Amino acid sequence: MIGNKISLWVFFALCLGFWPGWIEATDSEVLNPRVPSDQIEEAKTWVNPFPSTQENIEKGKVLFHGKAFCVTCHGRDGRGYIDVPGLVGKLPRNFTDKAWQAVRKDGELLWILKNGSEGTAMASFIPLVLTEEEAWHVILYVRSFGK
Ligand code: HEC
Repeated sequence: MIGNKISLWVFFALCLGFWPGWIEATDSEVLNPRVPSDQIEEAKTWVNPFPSTQENIEKGKVLFHGKAFCVTCHGRDGRGYIDVPGLVGKLPRNFTDKAWQAVRKDGELLWILKNGSEGTAMASFIPLVLTEEEAWHVILYVRSFGK
C-alpha cells in the first residue's frame, strides 16, 4: 500500500519533471540558418515595409489559409504538422517556437519564401504563388504566432 503511494508520487514527480521539456523543447537544429552563408548578410538587411497592424496581419492570415496553402503543412495553429503524408526530411517549422522566432530576421524569412529551403518540402512561393508584397504580409502573420 505505502509502496504503491510512493510509486504514484514518483510517477507524478517524473511527469512534472518531463512535461515542460516535452512541450517546450526546441529542437536546436531548427535554429541553424537556412539562408546560405554567402547570401545571409544581405538577406538580413531586407526590412518588412509593412507595419504589423491588425489589418496587415489579417491580410497575411487570409493568404496563409488561402491561396498560399501554408496551412496544409504549418497547421492552423502554426505548430507544424508532424505527419503530413508523404513528407520526407525536415518537419514544417513550428512558428510558436519563441527561440526560433528570436533568432530569425524578417529578411531571412523572405529569402526562404523566394528560394525555398533546399532539400526540404519548403518550396519557393515568390513569384509563382505570392508577390513580394503579399509575402511580407504573410510574414507579419507568421510573426504573430510567436507572440
Ligand atoms: C509542403 C509543405 C509546406 C508548405 C505548403 C509550406 N511550408 Fe514552410 N516549411 C515546410 C518545411 C518542411 C519547413 C522546414 C524547412 C527546413 O527545416 O529548412 C518549412 C519552413 C518554413 C519556414 C522557416 C524557414 C527558416 O528560416 O527556418 C518559414 C518561414 C516557412 N516555412 C513559411 C511558409 C509559408 C509562409 C508558407 C506559405 C506561403 C509555407 N511555409 C508553406 C513545409 C511547408
